[in-house]
Amino acid sequence: MGATHSHVCRAHSLFYEPTRFENKTENWNHDFVLEFTRLLRDVRTRHEFTFLMHRFQISLDGNKRTSTISIGGGLRRELGTAIARSESFKPRRVLLISNKRVFDLYGKDVISSLKRQRLQIFEWLMPEGERFKSFRVLEQAVMFLGNNGFERNDLVVALGGGVVGDLAGFSAAVYLRGIPFIQVPTTLLAQIDSSVGGQTGINLPVGMNMVGAFHQPPLVVIDPETLLTLPKRELVSGFC
Ligand SMILES: NC(=O)c1ccc[n+]([C@@H]2O[C@H](COP(=O)([O-])OP(=O)(O)OC[C@H]3O[C@@H](n4cnc5c(N)ncnc54)[C@H](O)[C@@H]3O)[C@@H](O)[C@H]2O)c1
Repeated sequence: MGATHSHVCRAHSLFYEPTRFENKTENWNHDFVLEFTRLLRDVRTRHEFTFLMHRFQISLDGNKRTSTISIGGGLRRELGTAIARSESFKPRRVLLISNKRVFDLYGKDVISSLKRQRLQIFEWLMPEGERFKSFRVLEQAVMFLGNNGFERNDLVVALGGGVVGDLAGFSAAVYLRGIPFIQVPTTLLAQIDSSVGGQTGINLPVGMNMVGAFHQPPLVVIDPETLLTLPKRELVSGFC
């Protein structure tokens, strides 16, 4: 059986009790995330939880594939090393897809970590907002891949919330009938849900997520420190 939202939520619920953070006002977000990060860090030393948090078996149509899900404060700075160590892909080119807000916050860290490896790095920023999960933006993303000579073994990295993850994942799913991609989710919803199931897609004017594909990321890198900059409204919307 594959990893589902409830599996991931259950895993996360081992590590924090949301009620402990109630009644806090301006520091609520900050305190919660620091505690969440500390607990995740502590838990990495406990073998059984390390296993639970780091490996999920995800099967699609009976075809079993494994996504490695790495969780830890500051992991965005080690993405290059994770790519170099992975046996799932050996890219020459990497396209980082994000939006301006997230890229301004974390793009530099991710790019520096990629630059430490021998990789040709490109970045492409999509506009911010649900309405840009569209055919028009998808076309721009795949055209960028094509114009820059991306090949079957090259890699797309999605840095952002669920919107960026869905659009970047779908671009990777359809370009050359599928190239590898990695999720680096930066919202709570994306960290506990949208980045892990392999569902990618875009919206139609008549409804959300109506065009898409299953395209599982071999690697999901979750850095809870990125939640520190998330508006409280977005953080709360990700609670299970
Ligand atoms: N693929 C799936 O399985 C799946 C599951 C659930 C939801 N989704 C999709 O996810 C999308 C919603 O995702 P979301 O809730 O992450 O919203 P989102 O991606 O729109 O992000 C919310 C806002 O937070 C900003 N942001 C992201 N990370 C930030 C950070 N670390 N600090 C500050 N700001 C940050 C974004 O720029 C955006 O303005 C929807 O399109 C939904 O359909 C997909």
